[in-house]
This record gives sequence, C-alpha cells and structure tokens, in this order.
Amino acid sequence: MNRTLKTLTAAAASCMLSAAFFDAHADEGMWLPSLISQRIEDMQAKGFRLTAEDIYSINSASLKDAVVLFGRGCTGELISDEGLLLTNHHCGYSQIQKHSSVEHDYLRDGFWAMNRDEELPNEGLTVSFLERMEDVTDAVLQGYSPEMTETQRDSVVKANSGKLVEKATAEGNGLRATVEALYYGNQYFLFLYREYSDVRLVGAPPSSVGKFGGDTDNWMWPRHTGDFSIFRIYADKDNNPAPYSEDNVPYRPKRHFRISLGGVEEGDFTFVYGFPGRTQEYLMSEGVRYISEVSDPHRIALRTMRLDIQKKYMDAGQAVRIQYSSKNAGVANSWKKWQGEMKGIRKMGTVGKKQEYEKAFMEWARGTEYEGVVERLDSLYGLLEPYSYATDYYGETAYSIELVRFALGYNKKLTESMLSSSTDRIAELRKEMKKMAADFYKDYFIPIDRESFVAVMEAFDRNVTDDFKPEYFKESLTRYGTMEAWADSLWNGSVFADSLKLKKATDSLRLLSEDPAVKFGDAFDDWYKKEIRPVTKRLNSEITLLNRDYMRGQMEFSPDRVFYPDANLTLRVAYGSVQGYSPADGIYYKPVSTLEGIMEKDNPEIFDYNIPQRLREIHAAKDYGPYTVTDSKGNITVPVCFIATNHTSGGNSGSPVINADGDLIGINFDRVWEGTMSDIVFDPDLCRNISLDIRYVLFIIDKVAGAGHLLEEMDFVSDR
Ligand code: ARG
Ligand code: GLU
Repeated sequence: MNRTLKTLTAAAASCMLSAAFFDAHADEGMWLPSLISQRIEDMQAKGFRLTAEDIYSINSASLKDAVVLFGRGCTGELISDEGLLLTNHHCGYSQIQKHSSVEHDYLRDGFWAMNRDEELPNEGLTVSFLERMEDVTDAVLQGYSPEMTETQRDSVVKANSGKLVEKATAEGNGLRATVEALYYGNQYFLFLYREYSDVRLVGAPPSSVGKFGGDTDNWMWPRHTGDFSIFRIYADKDNNPAPYSEDNVPYRPKRHFRISLGGVEEGDFTFVYGFPGRTQEYLMSEGVRYISEVSDPHRIALRTMRLDIQKKYMDAGQAVRIQYSSKNAGVANSWKKWQGEMKGIRKMGTVGKKQEYEKAFMEWARGTEYEGVVERLDSLYGLLEPYSYATDYYGETAYSIELVRFALGYNKKLTESMLSSSTDRIAELRKEMKKMAADFYKDYFIPIDRESFVAVMEAFDRNVTDDFKPEYFKESLTRYGTMEAWADSLWNGSVFADSLKLKKATDSLRLLSEDPAVKFGDAFDDWYKKEIRPVTKRLNSEITLLNRDYMRGQMEFSPDRVFYPDANLTLRVAYGSVQGYSPADGIYYKPVSTLEGIMEKDNPEIFDYNIPQRLREIHAAKDYGPYTVTDSKGNITVPVCFIATNHTSGGNSGSPVINADGDLIGINFDRVWEGTMSDIVFDPDLCRNISLDIRYVLFIIDKVAGAGHLLEEMDFVSDR
C-alpha cells in the first residue's frame, strides 16, 4: 500500500475511533490558564461572558490572582480585600484538628474567631499565588540531542530547569518557582508562585455541618455536606510574605471574588479554577488494566482491614475518635474513590477500547517513527507489573505502620544530633524532636496500630510472592512464628511505643538503630531502595520516553482530537454546566440539593447524620433570611450543594466555582462516585463535580454560627 493511501485509511479509522471513544467530549478537559484564549470561544459559546484576559493576565489583576494553592494539595479563593480565604473543611481539617483537644473540640463544635486577635496561626501551612507561567520548552531542552539516553536527557532537563528556577527566584521575597513537564515532557512550563506562610484559621463549622454525611456520603450524590472553612492570609506591612508575626497585617490581594447570590439552575455555565493533582488520561491499556483489575482491588482490601480496626476503637470512645478522625478520613477517602474508579473503568470498557485504539494506532504507525512504540510500551508495562504490585503492597502495609514511620523520622534527627558538633544545630534538632514526639503521641492509640500491623502484614505475607519479600521479613517471621508474636516484640520492645522511655533514651543519648521499630523500618526501606525502586525507576524512565513519543504520535494520528495536558498540581480551568445525571437504569438525580435533604437525613442516633440543634431550630422557624429559595415542590428552603460537568480531580478541593460573569457561586469539594474514573477516562454522562452552594456557606456563617461580621468584608452581587 502506498504511503498516502495508508495515511488516508488510517485517518479514516482514527476518525471513527476518536469520534467513538476519545474525542475530548463537551466539558472534558483541564486547561492551562495562560493558553485559555484557545478555549475562550467555546467557553463563550456555552455562556461565559468574560474574556481570556479576565481569567489570566500578567499585566493586570485577573481572576487567577484570587486563587491559591492551599497547602500542598488543595485550592482556596480570596473573598475579601483583607485576605479572607475560603477552602474546604476537609482541606483545613488537620489545622482544625491540631487546635482541638477534648476541652476545646473545634472539630465537634466548630470554631469562629469573633475578632482578628482570635484568629489562630498554623505552623507549616502556606498558600501560593501564581504570579505567572510561561512556556520554557526551548530553554529546558537546550543542549539535548535525540541520540541521548533518557537518563542523559533527564540530567539536561534538571540542570536547565535548575537554572531557570534560580533565575526566576533571584529577587527573593517569598517567590517559589517550579518547572513542570506537560504531555510527558513534550512541553515544559515555568510556574512562578508567591508563597505566604502566615495563614490563620478564622472559622470552621462543626463537623456535623462541615463533614455532614461523613464517609457514608463521601464521593456521593445527593450530598448535603457544608464542606468549608475560612482562613486569613497575613503579610508584612508592605504586603509581602513574612513568617508569622504579631506585627503582620491582613494581606491585600490584587483581586478577590465577588459573591453571587443569584444561585444556580440546571444548564447554567460554571467554571472551576484550581489545582487538580494528577490524572492519567493517555495511559495505555495495560496501565489501565493494572489499576482497575489489580492495584485498586488489592489496595481496597488492605484499607478495609485498617478501617474496620479504626472504626471499632473510634466507636468505643470520644478521645480515640478525635485522635483518629483525620487519619481515618484520609484512609477512607481513597479507599472509596478506588471502588468507584474501578467500577467506572469496567463499566466503560476502557481497557478493551484502549486496546482497539492501540491496534489502530499500531497499524497507522507502521513505517513511521512511531512504529513499535505501543508494542514496546506494552512489554515494559508487563515487566513493571510485579514491581508496581510490590510497591503498592509496601505502601499499604509495612509503610503504613504509624510506630515505624515515627521511629524512622525521629531516629534520623536523633542520629544527626549525636553526630553534630554544632551546639546550635543540636538545640534545634532537640526542639524538633520534642515537637515531633508531642504531635505523635497526642494522636496515637497503640491497639489500632498494633492490630493493623498484624492484619496488613499477614496479607503481605499471603499475597506477595516470596521473591518480592525482604529477606529480613522472611527470617523474622520464621523466628517469631506468628505476626502476633512479632507485634509483641515491637510494641513491648520498642522505646517508641512509650513516650517516657523515648524521652529517657533521648536524654541519655542512646543510639536507637537497634530498636525493633527502627530495624523494621530500615529493613523495609533498604529492601525497597535496593531491590524495588531501581528497577521501577529504570522501567518508568523508559516508559516516560516512549510515552512522550506515543503522545506525539497520538496527536498526529488523531489530528482532530483536542489534547489537554494531564493534571500535575498546576493551575487549570475546567468549564461545563450544571447538570443532573442518571447513575443507573430507572434513576435520575437532580442537580441541586437543599436543607430539606439534611432534615430527611437528620438522625441523632447516627454520628454522621446528627445535625446541630441550632439547625433544627432554624429549620422549624424557617428563618432563612436572604438565603431563602423555593424548591420544585414549593417548599421554602435553603440551597446546599449542586453538581456540574466540570472536569476536576483531587486537588480541586476548595476551588472556586464561578458563574458566567466571573462571580463566586460555590466551592468545589468532590465528585460523584460513579464518575471517579475521570482521572483516567471521562464519561460526560456520569462525571460530575460536587460543589457547595455559596449561599449555604453564608447561611451557616450568618444564621448558625452567628459570625455575620465576616460578611461585612465581602462583596455581593444579587442579580441573575
Ligand atoms: N472526597 C473528597 C476528596 O477527595 C472529600 C474528602 C474528605 N471527606 C471525607 N469524608 N473523608 O477530598
Ligand atoms: N475531595 C477532593 C480533593 O480533596 C476533590 C474531589 C476530587 O477528587 O475531585 O481534592
């Protein structure tokens, strides 16, 4: 077959295939703000009334200046000219938890600073504003030539990126820069952030509002969670980043959101501006099969064991419930997501569809530079699988033991302090160790950790083949006979299991490298570093190289398909509209939920559904003020949450949800369970992001918390 003809047939095949499976569907995609002009016509056609410059501009204040990376995994938005910031309750959760004790239980009762002096500082918490981003592909690849190996290419990329970062941050002043690869390294961008580290807690509703529905409703619709918390950014008197100080003043942002009281209706345009963490939309079939058929099921099973153990003790006492609430939410969250993801991928037949696509690609690639790329990727994934499996198992078993993590972290500092000759450094390390120990023991409950150890390590023994187990593990298990006996030796024999013993050991400068917890951790770490990671790294670097070619190849193979870069915790725009969905035959979910649904779920007997008494009273009195709406049945009520077709991911939590005029209508906090495969494959019929209606946020602040003074700083628009 001559070349032109072949291209034509292949193009026809590719058209059919991409139309059938891989067309960027309406609303699919997370776009780079600096390139949003490429999407703006589509956005405007769907109802957006502003311009690309309004979304992202380096010359004047734009909406991007009102969005922050909150910590290292959430998003937040500015809502006043005095640095007031909104994010999710679950994003501020560990801060709220750290300020809590049995006497002041801000998780249970909520927290509201009634004046600026009562706002609580949070060590270690930062927020980052994106100053600008730019394509630096040429600079990053300077000195690279195609005959280089992937490792050599990596060194070139690293060295050039380092120079760019250094240059960009030369002026100091809280600037932070990163260079990130897009499209598997076909493109590189420099991101320059201004990072603030004095961020104070201003308010949080009680968990009975902020985590209403708990892990029962998590990842689900219909939803009624008031998942928000409020912080304030502080700066020095020149508005620059500064470490916490009493002299700091509220930060004055270049831009903050106006708040719309107009509400949402089905079909309304919405857009989400935030920091999605990680997606793998172009992963080949073998990678998807591994995730949905091996990794997800095994990790789910391992977490089920730990969650059952945690639940048993948390149900038995309030102190343990507080200690483990944050840890438990973390473990449960991915556990539930993986279940939805696995199911969604199976339901969509993604593995089979990708195989077909790859077959067509292979046909087309014959005789081109892409010939053999898919075949080689396929065999590399085959080689990688047992190593990924061992890594997954390690992560969910030995690596999850709290005692061991703590022992390793502490011992590292202890060892350094014993080797150091600088008295200043020793004093500093001492202080850090003291804090580390205090934080650890405050939230540590031995029976949970010990039982989890037995359960997950037994699973490790059962489900990992002998050649992928550390020698140390096999020998020790033979020596102890049972996992129970091994656990005894750890929790009776390790000084880390007892804060007083640890203090004594530290004070007497005892070397702890022979401590059983340290030995356990070191042995697994060592094994992982020597036997698993090097192979994983080598294979992954070959995979990355091929994926880069495969990505380019796909762009040539399907010239009409729109490719957006996978998420990598950089700022993105997703847009869509408010829409219900049908998760199963015979069911249709409406796109908005209201206070009536909270009252239907209310049940003082069930922890997750026991609402504050105040909310019951307000409901009885129907005293909703400006937040009143009439639902489809004619009830006077308050809006709570809504869903839309925006393509979001983990990291988009806390993101502003914005209407056609650029005003704030909600806070993103979740996705629907049936659509959680959108990190790998997006189904426009099922993938929905879940947002908190901004009017419910205001209602809680104003009517339930009695913190209406905060509303005085905000700007409102009321018309639809
Ligand atoms: N699923 C949401 C997210 O991925 C919320 C998680 C926090 N809530 C919870 N119940 N664990 O972050
Ligand atoms: N709750 C998620 C987060 O923490 C957002 C939900 C999602 O994964 O889409 O980022």
